[in-house]
Amino acid sequence: MKGIVFTEFLDLVEEKFGLDVVDKIITESNLESGGVYTSVGTYSFSEMLQLLQHLSEHTGIAIDDLLLVYGEHFFSVIETSYPGLLAIYQSPIEMLSSIESHIHVEVRKIYPDAELPTFKILEKTDSSLVMLYNSSRAMHHFGLGLMNKTFEHFNTTATIVLEKLNKDGTEVKFLINKK
Ligand code: HEM
Repeated sequence: MKGIVFTEFLDLVEEKFGLDVVDKIITESNLESGGVYTSVGTYSFSEMLQLLQHLSEHTGIAIDDLLLVYGEHFFSVIETSYPGLLAIYQSPIEMLSSIESHIHVEVRKIYPDAELPTFKILEKTDSSLVMLYNSSRAMHHFGLGLMNKTFEHFNTTATIVLEKLNKDGTEVKFLINKK
């Protein structure tokens, strides 16, 4: 997992819960990196999982809810860092249906060792999209947060239903309907 995902996560934890909570979750986790991340470095996903688990224990907030808020925050990182990638899209449905075929393809050019999910399009109309998310990291709620903000970016809203197709959440169906 890329360092930018860790640095932005820890910045958000500091902003929402304070530096003492950042210190606590780092100390409680068994981190090969020692909790020191650079945005271009690459680190084990298990480090993110441990940080999330300890943050969830401290705050009483479920990991999926933490990932949702983090995904919403990460969209603003994308807007700031990769405006050119978003600028070519005219609509949220166009953008979300291009994650697999364009957006993450470009991400992989920037970060060849990025660990990305796959999104398979099952149905698409002008106002709806059904996609299948697959990833061993089960970060579907991070994706949901990014999707929410994608609609906001285009000054619109959507109903997004998430259906877990297996217990561990590595396969998830997203049913997206623009309002
Ligand atoms: C992961 C970039 C748009 C879904 C990532 C990662 C980066 C990235 C850097 C982390 C890779 C790693 O840690 O190795 C971008 C950029 C985007 C974009 C630059 C737009 C310009 C989106 C959108 C979605 C999405 C719109 C909507 C669902 C995800 C998910 C992950 C991810 C769910 C977590 C990894 C996983 O589930 O396996 N993306 N992304 N991305 N991205 Fe994107």
